[in-house]
Formats: sequence, structure tokens, C-alpha cells
Amino acid sequence: SSMVKVAILGYGTVGSGVVEVINTNGAAINKRAGQDIEIKYVLDLKDFPGDPIQSKIVHDINIILDDPEVNVVVEVMGGIEPAYTFVKEALARGKSVCTSNKALVAKHGAELLEIAKKNNLNFMFEASVGGGIPIIRPLNQSLTADEITQITGILNGTTNYMLTEMSRKGVKFDEALRDAQEKGYAERNPEADIEGYDACRKIAILTSLAFGSQVDFEDIYTEGITKITDTDFKYADKMGYAIKLLATSHKVDDVVYAMTAPFMISESHPLYSVNGVLNGIYINGNVLGDVMFFGAGAGKLPTASAVVSDIVDCAKHMGKNVMTVWSSTKLELGDISDFKR
Ligand code: HSE
Repeated sequence: SSMVKVAILGYGTVGSGVVEVINTNGAAINKRAGQDIEIKYVLDLKDFPGDPIQSKIVHDINIILDDPEVNVVVEVMGGIEPAYTFVKEALARGKSVCTSNKALVAKHGAELLEIAKKNNLNFMFEASVGGGIPIIRPLNQSLTADEITQITGILNGTTNYMLTEMSRKGVKFDEALRDAQEKGYAERNPEADIEGYDACRKIAILTSLAFGSQVDFEDIYTEGITKITDTDFKYADKMGYAIKLLATSHKVDDVVYAMTAPFMISESHPLYSVNGVLNGIYINGNVLGDVMFFGAGAGKLPTASAVVSDIVDCAKHMGKNVMTVWSSTKLELGDISDFKR
């Protein structure tokens, strides 16, 4: 029978989660994929003596790239380099790629989607936005009858967890951050979370996908949670508001506006009750109306679940590209000071 041979690049939080998900749910996953999924290699700088994964550990990417049996490469290293070079080379050598790497997709998504399509492969990134929440596949395959008018999300689990702890329990910023790091939510450099860069890259990805052109994340006005004070929390509480880091894009009269910033939102807002590490994404389409996506936004197993769903999708569509390519022509964003809600 046919078999999908997978190479995982990076045995960190997400990489070890991918192995765990496949070990836990292998039989059901194979059935859905219509063939057996086998991990052949795991690339990492380190060795893992005593871990059963050790027999699959390699330190040289060329072993993976040169092996024609490997048909799916899972990139869960994070960062732009060497991830970008490895992914591009894997696609050039006939291997589909699944990644959780937001920074990579936000910066090079258009190009990598195009290369995959040209080679009848897939470049998939369900885990790059919203952790375990299905959001890339819905935008790519389901919400395709609409003009999207708005995407607004709580897209960073670390900061939503911190804001929830700080406002509900009066936990201090540093302690809340340490806690989020211990739980495996935060980026290796947590500045990406607390300064809003991670949420900014994620809204850049969703906006590129929804509007069909590459958004330069550097064009998106971005503010994190570091300037929120105790007084802000007190006022919010008095007025019955929640403070949330929102990443949002709106299309008004053919102009797209995007930003990432903390907002005070009232109880009637669809994202008001999204607390802790959960993420929520609210989308409005011109014929569809409103839809909400809600669930586990960060962490090892939710993120790994999304990565493995991409492996299954790659297996089901071997030799056939199913991801819509967005144009590499930069989408010019409107000036947010002109944007009226
Ligand atoms: N650091 C990210 C977060 C991980 O907290 O949301 C998930 O992308």
C-alpha cells in the first residue's frame, strides 16, 4: 500500500507534539488519510538519548532533501532562516510542506504557495494562525463565496492568557508572562507576543488570504500590551469592559485597513468572553454575515493537531495542489487614521 513518509524539521514544543499526536491517534489518522503516515526523520541540532525518537534523529538537512521517499516535510523550527531555505528546497525537490511558522508564512507565503502550485504540491499552514482552531482551511476552502468585509481576532494566546490573569486575579505582568512561558504558549523570544508582533503576522496572513494579495506585516500599525497600566484595568472593570489585544482588518470601499492594538470591549462584543489561552476569530462576509471561530489558540498539542491535519490533507491530495495562491503584489493598506468604524 502507498505510504506517506514524513520528515519533521525541529523537535521542540510543536515537533514533539506532532510525534505525540501521530502516536496517540495514528490508526484514525491513517484511515482519514487513506494511507499510512510514517515519520522517517526528525531534524534537530540536538540528540535525544533515551527518547524513542533518537533512532530517527538526523543533523543534516540533505539526508532528508536527498531521500526521494520523503513526500511531506513538516517545518516546526520557527524563525525565517534556515526555515525559509529548507522549505524552498523541499518544495523544489518535490516534497509538500506543512508549517506552523507564522513569521515564514507572513513574509514568504505568496512565493512558497506559488512554488508549491507550480510543482503540483501543497504548502500548508493551518497551525500558523489560531493554534488548533481551523481558520486557514475555512478561509481557503469554505468562505469562498463572499467578499470578506472584516476579520477581527484574538490571535495571541500568551497575551490573552496574561490579560485574563492580570484583570481577573490581579496577577502582575512578569508573573503572568513567566506562567505563559512555563505552559509552553510563549515564543522563544516573548517580545514577539507582548509587543504584538506575533498577532500582527497572523492578521497579515489572514488578510493576505482573504483579499488575495501579500500584506507586508511591517505596514500594519502594531501596539502590544506592555503599556497597559493597573489604572487601565481598574477603569475597564468599573465600566464593565474587557481589555483585549485585537488584530483586525476591515475592507471599506475597496480599501483594506489593518491594525493590532489593545482595545476595551463591552459585553456585547463577540470576543468579550474569549479568555485565557483561547483565541477567537470573528469574520464578516457580505452575503454570509457573521461567523465565529473559537478554541485552543496556542500550546503543544492544539498546534500539533493543526499540523497533523495538514499532513492528512497533503496525503489526500498527493500530486494535486489545493491551496489558493495569493498574489505577491503588495496590498497597499489604508491609513488607519482615515478609518471610521
Ligand atoms: N506564542 C503564540 C501565542 C503561539 O501565544 O499565541 C501560537 O502561535
